[in-house]
Amino acid sequence: MPVRHPDPSELEPIERASADELQALQLERLQTTLARAYAHVPHYREAFDARGVHPGDCRALADLARFPLTTKADLRANYPFGMFAVPRQQVVRIHASSGTTGKPTVVGYTQRDIEIWAGLVARSIRAAGGRAGDIVHVAYGYGLFTGGLGAHYGAERLGCTVVPMSGGQTEKQVQLIVDFRPDIIMVTPSYMQVIIEQFSRMGLDPREMSVQVGIFGAEPWTAAMRDGIEDSAALDAVDIYGLSEVMGPGVASECIETKDGSVVWEDHFYPEIIDPDTGTVLSDGSAGELVLTTLTREAQPLIRYRTRDLTRLLPPTARSMRRMGRIVGRTDDMLIIRGVNVYPTQVEEIVLRHDGLAGQYQLVVTRPGALDELAVRCELLPGRADLAPDRVAAEVRERIKELIGVSASVEVGAPGTIERTSAGKARRVIDRRGA
Ligand code: DLL
Repeated sequence: MPVRHPDPSELEPIERASADELQALQLERLQTTLARAYAHVPHYREAFDARGVHPGDCRALADLARFPLTTKADLRANYPFGMFAVPRQQVVRIHASSGTTGKPTVVGYTQRDIEIWAGLVARSIRAAGGRAGDIVHVAYGYGLFTGGLGAHYGAERLGCTVVPMSGGQTEKQVQLIVDFRPDIIMVTPSYMQVIIEQFSRMGLDPREMSVQVGIFGAEPWTAAMRDGIEDSAALDAVDIYGLSEVMGPGVASECIETKDGSVVWEDHFYPEIIDPDTGTVLSDGSAGELVLTTLTREAQPLIRYRTRDLTRLLPPTARSMRRMGRIVGRTDDMLIIRGVNVYPTQVEEIVLRHDGLAGQYQLVVTRPGALDELAVRCELLPGRADLAPDRVAAEVRERIKELIGVSASVEVGAPGTIERTSAGKARRVIDRRGA
C-alpha cells in the first residue's frame, strides 16, 4: 500500500507547538469568544446570566466548565438567524444540517470563517498525506451539507486540482476516477464501498485505481471497515470528523503516519468530554459525549456545544494536539435492546470481520410485544456461494451474543440484497418500534 508522509517542515508552527503555547492561545481565544457571544447573542447573555456566570469569570481553561452547555434545541429555538453574532450582511455563506425531524439547524460564516475553514481542511488533507499538485476527487454532496464545499475549498487552498463530482451517479464517479486518475478521494466510507463495488461490476479491478488516499468521514465507521476498504482498493484510509453546527468537515482529522484517531484542531476548537447523563466534565481518556467550543468563529460562535457523539480524548502523538478515539455512536442512535446498550458500529465490527460477508448491513428494531427485538441483515460476498447462509447467520448470531450480549436474529442474503446509499450517509438502522 502506498504511504505518503507529510514533510514536518510543511506543518504550521502550532501543529508542533508546546502544550503551554497551545493552552495560552486557547485561553486568549476562549476569553474573546465568550465576551463576543455574551455581547452579541441574546441567547448566550440570557443563558450566562441564568447561570450567574460572566465572561470575565473565565481565567483558566478549566473555568469553561462553569458555563452553560448549548444544545441543538437552542439552535432550533433561535432559527434561522438568532445565533448570529454579526449583522446578517456580514454573513457570506449559509449551510444547514440535515435534521431528520423538524427544522434544520442553520450555520452562518463570515468571509474570515470561510477562510479559516479552508485552511483547516487544507491542514487535514496535508495530514492525510495530500500535497499541492494532487488531484482530489470530491464525492461528498455539495449544497447545504457542508461536506462537498468544505472539502472543495480546503483542497483548493492546499493547491490541489479539485474534481467537484458531488455524490451520486456512481457509474460516472468510476468513469471520472478512471479517466482523471485522482490521487485522493473524499467521500463517506459507505459510499466508497458502493464505488468499489461499481468498479468490479464494470469489470475493473478496484485495486488498480489511481487513488492513494481516501479521506472518509461524516458517519461512524469502524477499524474493520478501514481494513476492508484499504484491502479492496489498495489505498490508505484516514478519518475526518466535523459537524455543520461547529463548522463542517475538518474539526478533527487523522494523520496518515499514525492512523491513531483524528487530531482535534485545538487551536480553533476546544474539546471537553462530559457524562451525557449528568453533564459533568470527565478526565481525558474517559468515554463520554464530546462537547466543543469554537475559538475563532465570528458569525456563529458556539459555546460548549453538545455534539451527541460518543468518544474519548487521547494524548497527542503526531501533532501537539489531542486526538479523539473513533466515534462509537451518537447518544441518539444507541439502541437499548432488553436493557443492553447496542451501537450499530458494534454490529458493523462483527459483520465486517466475517470473511464470507460483504461490508453492507442493516439493523432493524421492532417491538412486537413489551420488549425490543433486533434483527441484523447482512449479505454474502459475491463469489462466496459455497457458504450456507444459515450457517453464516448462526456464526454471526453467536458473535453478537458473545461480544455485545444480546440475542439478535440474523438474516444472510444473497450479494446485493441490502439497500446501498445513493450518495451520502448510509442508513444503518431501521427503527420500526413506532410503527
Ligand atoms: O457530516 C460534516 C462532515 C462532512 C464531516 C464530511 C466529515 C466529512 P453533519 O451532517 O452536521 O456534518 O453531521 C455531523 O456526523 O455529529 C457525527 O455524528 C457524524 N460524523 C461526522 N464525521 C464523522 C466521523 C458532517 N469521522 C455528524 N466519524 C457528527 C463518525 C462522524 N461520525
